[in-house]
Amino acid sequence: MKKAIYPGSFDPITNGHIDIVHRALGAFNKLTIAVLENRNKSPLFTTKERKAMLAEVFKAEQERIEILSFSGLLVDFAEQENASVIVRGLRAASDFEYEFQLAAMNRHLNKKVDTIFFMTGSETYFLSSALVKEVASLGGNIEKMVPKTIALALKEKFSQS
Ligand code: PNS
Repeated sequence: MKKAIYPGSFDPITNGHIDIVHRALGAFNKLTIAVLENRNKSPLFTTKERKAMLAEVFKAEQERIEILSFSGLLVDFAEQENASVIVRGLRAASDFEYEFQLAAMNRHLNKKVDTIFFMTGSETYFLSSALVKEVASLGGNIEKMVPKTIALALKEKFSQS
């Protein structure tokens, strides 16, 4: 049984990430969602908050999804977790160069771990956590971009600042 790992910042999770998770669950029995502890970036949500939001969003799938955080090299973490496949989403051609480089670097670092891409759906190809945060911070409607709990969490964050 192959286990896959879906890494990212998830700051916060969007409907685009959710689409990728569901499609990955169609291909793999178990999925580890690996939340990057962004040491250099300053995320809007703490690692603990991001993990809690993911746990809430995927509570119905908790038997098949494990939510962990990591720092350091992704391939080292994947190997430690016995995951031989890294899952990533591709939105548009603009994602390709970065993702191609990342996948090639990861493969160079560890040949036992490979990357599989899922193309994002037509409903979500324009979504990114950065844009969702920008729209939310400016009071825009993000109802169709993130689950209700995430929209509320964003509203709360931006009402504090
Ligand atoms: O959702 P993101 O922010 O695009 O995810 C990027 C992520 C977490 C996949 C990437 O930054 C990563 O794997 N970071 C861990 C450090 C690492 O292993 N880098 C790859 C070698 S350059």
